[in-house]
Amino acid sequence: MKKNERDPNENELNKKTGRIESLVAEEEEESEVEIKTNLRPKTFAQYIGQGVLKEKMRISIEAAQKRGSTLDHILLYGSPGLGKTTLAGVIANEMGVHIKITSGPVLERAGDLAAILTSLEEHDILFIDEIHRLNNAVEEILYPAMEDKELDIIIGKGPSARSIRIELPNFTLIGATTRAGLLSSPLRDRFGVTHRMEYYTTEEIKTIILNGAGILGVKIEEEGADVLASRSRGTPRIANKLLKRVRDYAETRGNGAIDKETSLQALALLGIDDRGLDDLDRDIITAIIDNYGGGPVGITTLSLLLGEDRRTLEEVYEPYLVKIGYLKRTQRGRVVTEKAYRHFKRGYYGNLLGDFDEIS
Ligand SMILES: Nc1ncnc2c1ncn2[C@@H]1O[C@H](COP(=O)(O)OP(=O)(O)O)[C@@H](O)[C@H]1O
Ligand SMILES: [Mg+2]
Repeated sequence: MKKNERDPNENELNKKTGRIESLVAEEEEESEVEIKTNLRPKTFAQYIGQGVLKEKMRISIEAAQKRGSTLDHILLYGSPGLGKTTLAGVIANEMGVHIKITSGPVLERAGDLAAILTSLEEHDILFIDEIHRLNNAVEEILYPAMEDKELDIIIGKGPSARSIRIELPNFTLIGATTRAGLLSSPLRDRFGVTHRMEYYTTEEIKTIILNGAGILGVKIEEEGADVLASRSRGTPRIANKLLKRVRDYAETRGNGAIDKETSLQALALLGIDDRGLDDLDRDIITAIIDNYGGGPVGITTLSLLLGEDRRTLEEVYEPYLVKIGYLKRTQRGRVVTEKAYRHFKRGYYGNLLGDFDEIS
């Protein structure tokens, strides 16, 4: 599917699936209580892991501040929930500048972006989430804005139309995307820094959970934190969600503290297994095994079979299944590995079609 082209089945399928709310979906509007106990880090010190990236950013920030200049444009890419939006906020906070947040699909017309750009102050940060979903008209005004801090806009229509040029303040664009491969190359080339966000180690996730429990004011035991950490798919957003769910369970069904037993019971109730896989993960793997002998099967077919939006499968679910070695994405389609067969206790007889070259 090409950029900006919507999957015609998408809406239909989204409506069809009555699945439980996704674990990796963005948090709902934060209520007032939530804001007081906000789990989102504001400083590098609170931002756990991503050591190399933090060090690189610290150096760039210090250098920019010494020179009184602006940070280079930064592109962050990686799976949902790994901390891209949070990091943009941390950078703005550490720089002591404002941040304006928008996203690719929200910017429908060139004028939408122009309005935001002209409202920026010197050294401000503009954060564009899902930047791979910008439409062409908007993307084109972004080029001169990023490169020369200039905005070319057309006023009027037909023969009386004229173009005017507006000087913009020095600003830093931070773009976030789940898939860097979908960015046009002229856009990608205009970022000075490109960084891929990796899944976090279980230790890092454990730290995030323990810190989170502290902020929420809930008692947690080491072993309880271990259980949650090993089932959070290396993803801070999932770690925080599991923490909140297990806290609710502990408060209503337990003695209020998150210990090993309470955690195991709560996660079983949520349908999350010992590798952190949920219902949809299981459906993906077993659908390929049961209907296609382990694959290969194309993503479009799979999306129809599961009644799940293709983009969600590709951007949210598959990366983790690939990372833990349960799924391969090949030229000919998705293939389930022997490791996954073992996890789901299915007999593996080898893939009759042999090996396939993996694609990224
Ligand atoms: N490095 C981190 N340390 C601690 N918490 C984090 C970290 N990264 C993300 N989080 C938590 O995970 C949640 C999801 O992060 P977010 O920045 O929204 O992810 P993304 O934008 O990549 O989808 C945040 O609300 C924050 O609480
Ligand atoms: Mg985000």
